[in-house]
Amino acid sequence: MNSPDSFLQDLLARMSLPEKIGQLTQARIEDQSPEKIQAGLKAGRWGSRILAQTNWAGNLKNKSLNVEEMNAQQKVAVEESPAGIPLIFGRDVIYGHRTVYPIPHCQAASFHPDLVEKACTCVAREAAAEGIHWTFSPMLDLVRDPRWGRVIESYGEDPFLISEMGCASVRGFQGEDPSAPDRILACAKHFAGYGGSEGGRDYDSTDWSDDSLHNMILPPFRAAVEAGIASMMSGFNQLAGRSVSASPHLTRDWLKTQLDWDGFIVSDWGSVNDLIAHRQAETRSDAARLALEAGIDMDMVDALYEEGLAALVDSGELSEALIDEAVLRVLRAKQRAGLFERPYTEPTPDLQRAPEHIAIAVELACQSIVLLKNDGILPLAATHKKIAVLGPYAEARRQHLGSWCLDGRSEDVTPILDALRTQMPDVNFITANAAFTDEMIAAARSAELTLVCVGESHVRNGEAKSIGELALPPGQEAFISALGALGVPMVIIDCSGRYLPIPAAEQYALAILHAGSLGTEAGTAIAKVLSGEVNPSGKLPMTVPRFTGQIPIYYNRKSPGSALNRGLFKGYEDKRVTPLYPFGFGKSYTEFSLENIELSAEHLPPGESVTLRATLRNLGGRSGAQVVQLYIQDAVSIPTRPMRELKGFQRIELEAGASQTLTFELSEKQLGFYTSKGEWIVQPGEFRLALGFDSTAELTHTLHYKNTL
Ligand code: GLC
Repeated sequence: MNSPDSFLQDLLARMSLPEKIGQLTQARIEDQSPEKIQAGLKAGRWGSRILAQTNWAGNLKNKSLNVEEMNAQQKVAVEESPAGIPLIFGRDVIYGHRTVYPIPHCQAASFHPDLVEKACTCVAREAAAEGIHWTFSPMLDLVRDPRWGRVIESYGEDPFLISEMGCASVRGFQGEDPSAPDRILACAKHFAGYGGSEGGRDYDSTDWSDDSLHNMILPPFRAAVEAGIASMMSGFNQLAGRSVSASPHLTRDWLKTQLDWDGFIVSDWGSVNDLIAHRQAETRSDAARLALEAGIDMDMVDALYEEGLAALVDSGELSEALIDEAVLRVLRAKQRAGLFERPYTEPTPDLQRAPEHIAIAVELACQSIVLLKNDGILPLAATHKKIAVLGPYAEARRQHLGSWCLDGRSEDVTPILDALRTQMPDVNFITANAAFTDEMIAAARSAELTLVCVGESHVRNGEAKSIGELALPPGQEAFISALGALGVPMVIIDCSGRYLPIPAAEQYALAILHAGSLGTEAGTAIAKVLSGEVNPSGKLPMTVPRFTGQIPIYYNRKSPGSALNRGLFKGYEDKRVTPLYPFGFGKSYTEFSLENIELSAEHLPPGESVTLRATLRNLGGRSGAQVVQLYIQDAVSIPTRPMRELKGFQRIELEAGASQTLTFELSEKQLGFYTSKGEWIVQPGEFRLALGFDSTAELTHTLHYKNTL
């Protein structure tokens, strides 16, 4: 039996240079004439078709999928082109297809990787059923600036949480066998460091130190490689004097050589062409050469490879061997996707919004909700007679689907108001026209309690949608203040895709719930949590600043100088220096305690492990889930390390009054880190440990490690 690679080598040997370059070209072809499409497919001009009208697909009406059309195009590619290589169809199926799950930023708040994996399995099933072979997800960008619109696609500020969530997504999309008819290839993006866009301005430059690059930015991509990620996407940003879409050090040296990764890299939409904007390349031909030499295997839609590679090879400026290597990577991915055996899609429409997909969407949406404040008003008492449900999100639909949603439908969303009326039929839920604050105020004053459903719309976040001021959209905060000044008892439900400080809510609200872009089941999930049927358990995947000027503020920072603790210097003369809410924070309707924390041994010999055990107890009168988090602090090290590093978490559900013993394993794996040259080291010394419910948990234990017996 020929080995897979010998089959591919044979195929490569039969390909002309134009056909090879075709495999490295991803095109958006739907606006070309049928004749041009037919001719292009017959010539093998494109190896991939991207199913999107623009790279801001989520914000603009997109063309729906046409499986028959895709099968017909595939038939031409397979049966009429010289090499007969199937197309791979890619699409931004980021967090849902017809069933839409919460945006990744809120999925991260669930701290529930297994559930995220199940959700991505459902997404893959629905997408594959409509002819999609490859999704451009998960996004593994680490983000410290929530002004950046794409924070909504990220898993937040911590590399361990990003890795856990990213790998869960990869497992969900690809499964054990990505060639199965209900699986799709995943794509880890944006390689690398794009989340550091300066000033939160999209497409801006990034400036990560080597220390941050190796300990914050690259670990999730390393984890994705270990999880078997089939592809990656290079980003738009510059980093360390290079466009990351033409950085040999990152792609060829670190990813492909040091990690020995056999997948392929696609550039982001036009990011190879951006080498000219970055002034790294003078011409399109230079840009194409630099990108291919750096290890970018496929060029997304700017046709630079198609336009320029053949001439570069003919002139001797570019080795065809580099093209061959890229082609083999693309062909290997198509083989992993099962396209040579099964190039066509059997439409199976009944898979869309299958009941089990919806059930998992409800569960994940509920667990993505973060309770930030509660004086006890929540959960809503069934004895309430009249509750006003007001604000732009009271009856919203499309906005809950978030900004990277191509195939979700507004009509599949149950608005919050409708869901509450279903969930609590004995309560009279009233509303008023959100366009008239005076009418809403009147409604609020006629009710016992007001639920103010606010938040930014999906059109204000996502790609190319950064904000300068971290705040609710104009008017919403003023409305909350107006209600507060009137003494209206209120609960704030913030449906923004990011975590925003809302000073008026902090001042007046009895409770604050974050329920951002939860997808098609948003209303249902919010009603379940408000009614108490589901006890909220979400935890913040990102530190919430008190005000914009505090950015960047994140928990895993390096230790500041001692002045801050001497009392004279307060951080800011005019503002508080602590965050509004810390990473990992989230309240519950019940109370938990963590007792009897003990270390199995105070000394860790090389190559061995110790355990940190504790008893989690549900002290309250209702069941609930808690996310117990393990943080370490390397007492003294060179190079220096963050004040806290998340190294483990467990989400535990407990009945009222119940308790459970938890065990966390500690070994060199948790204690080590990367040098600025990317070498993994574990230094001898003391490691302080914290086990708790958010990143402010107290460091209570010390582990001594020495790397010699
Ligand atoms: C966009 C985004 C990328 C997306 C791609 C295809 O510009 O940066 O995340 O997957 O283009 O739409």
